[in-house]
Amino acid sequence: MSKTTVAAPANIAFIKYWGARDLERALPMNSSISMTLDHCVTRCTVEILDGGHDEVWLSEPDGGFGSPEAEFTRRVVEQLDRVRQWAGREEPFRVATRNTFPSAAGLASSASGFAALTLAAAGALGRKDAPARELSQLSRRSGSGSAARSVLGGYVEWPDPGGIGKVGGIDDEPSYAIQLADASHWDLRDVIAVVEIGPKVVSSRDGHRLAHTSPYYTKRLELVPERLQKVRRAIETRDFDLLGPVLEEESTDLHMIAMTSQPPIFYWSPGTVAVLRAVRELRQEGLAAFATLDAGANVHVICDPDSEDEVAERLEDLPAVGFVIRDGVGDGPEHETTHLF
Ligand code: PMV
Repeated sequence: MSKTTVAAPANIAFIKYWGARDLERALPMNSSISMTLDHCVTRCTVEILDGGHDEVWLSEPDGGFGSPEAEFTRRVVEQLDRVRQWAGREEPFRVATRNTFPSAAGLASSASGFAALTLAAAGALGRKDAPARELSQLSRRSGSGSAARSVLGGYVEWPDPGGIGKVGGIDDEPSYAIQLADASHWDLRDVIAVVEIGPKVVSSRDGHRLAHTSPYYTKRLELVPERLQKVRRAIETRDFDLLGPVLEEESTDLHMIAMTSQPPIFYWSPGTVAVLRAVRELRQEGLAAFATLDAGANVHVICDPDSEDEVAERLEDLPAVGFVIRDGVGDGPEHETTHLF
């Protein structure tokens, strides 16, 4: 049987999705904006089987493939069901997936993973050229909402379907991501300081679920619209001075909400603080670099290409940093002709 392989990138959120109106359908409380990465990708191969059940394989550190945990398999099979239902098909699949970066370390592996799975399964069913809107929507319905943004390259907005603060009665249809600008519009880099490897202790799903228990969450939702405008304008005019401070405000906000949720969630490690301090020092020395974190301890340092080498070298020198991943804005998912099995 023929195979379909898709490499889908992770993304780093400039304006964060944190908190959902409907967690099952991943309908967000606020619009978010991200930059799609280039090198941090999930590769997924899907093959249609003649009969039997779905088979799910996950790459192992030695390069081979093994059976993932039951929860992972369950989420994959549920997503395959959604893709089958959307395409009006019933065949079972064999699926294998591999990340180029540490899984489940707050580097958006679920976003790239579910985007790759959705696009590869759609491709296997002959729907490779379905509208991006449908593929984004379908990826979002995996439950990892940020996967909706990983189906597009460059700078991407996933608009809030209901208007800030409105809860309930939201139609599912309008919630998909759109491209604000392609990767060639603005060459930004993301130097990722990895201070912790291994799965995060609390999933982003739990973070979304608890966000509204923070006394500061309502305030956050009030602040987001102005930040969205700033980030849209910064992208449009390639204004790093406008973008940078908003990145840090958003990141601090997300973690403050997490730390003040009930029960509280602490994603930071001592290494996180060391990197944040180093980034501030780099700025004092005149380098254009700003830090942002998703739901994990590792720090994404967004900078312009001229600053990248210096930023990477300085972060590599920090004892708390295990290693640094150099990435940047990327073109989005690609269908590949080499398969994982
Ligand atoms: O898509 P999820 O449910 O894994 O949530 C993503 C949450 C953040 O990464 C922290 C923010 C974002 O917008 O990507």
